[in-house]
Amino acid sequence: MLRTIDVNGVRYQVMDAGVGPAIVFAHGFPLDHTMWNAQIAEFSKTHRVIAPDLRGFGGTDGNLYSVPMEQFADDIADLLAALQVEGPVTFCGLSMGGYIAFQFALRHPNWVAKLILCDTRSAADSPEAAANRIKMADIVTKEGPEPVLWVMMPKLFGPATYQSQPETVAAVRGMVMGTKATAIAAAHRGMAVRLDVTPQLPRLTFPSLVIAGEHDAISPAAEMKSFSEQMPNARFVVIPNVGHMAPMEDPVAVNAAIRQFLSGS
Ligand code: MLT
Repeated sequence: MLRTIDVNGVRYQVMDAGVGPAIVFAHGFPLDHTMWNAQIAEFSKTHRVIAPDLRGFGGTDGNLYSVPMEQFADDIADLLAALQVEGPVTFCGLSMGGYIAFQFALRHPNWVAKLILCDTRSAADSPEAAANRIKMADIVTKEGPEPVLWVMMPKLFGPATYQSQPETVAAVRGMVMGTKATAIAAAHRGMAVRLDVTPQLPRLTFPSLVIAGEHDAISPAAEMKSFSEQMPNARFVVIPNVGHMAPMEDPVAVNAAIRQFLSGS
């Protein structure tokens, strides 16, 4: 069920569905919880699925000028407590949601049973990429979400997906265009200053699953394989023929990988 709940002055919209051990799904940028619809449908059969719209995104308010990844992670810990979720949880994040997953695991290890990192990076931005984000934050504040749409849309999917899944591409376009400019700007500023968590990877001893889209142009599969090898207890999986939005592009394959990981086999 989609619910709203006030936590620390922020009104969250959050999908809270199913019963059982909890799985949290943290969405990418600049999207909302509906990017996880296929995972919500599947895993709510056996788990309590918590899929929030992050601070500022979707139906959640509470913008700041800049939202660091640490803030998003702390927000989720407070949200889980407010929802009386029984921990520890499996925490699954895609891309920006993965940057948040790293911070969640480092800052709130008692909340974490297992980690799932989809199409994300452990490295910080290059100085050039960070400068571009700051510029884009200012542009979006003046012009709305469209400029970010033009930059991101060509990079989000595998080549086949643009041809064969126009409805998936349209759903993502709709999410981007529906996102508040202030949220986009604040998250861009937060991602620009995020720390390189690569040196911390050996500390992340939780059973972990790292899922890469074969043609991910934002978080390349080779880079993901390399960071997974620095995590003591991680398994690396490539989803063929898809890009950055693997859980939407091939939900059957991604759900099968997650299901197998959750069952411990
Ligand atoms: C995302 O999908 O969350 C973004 O591509 C992350 C980023 O811009 O680094």
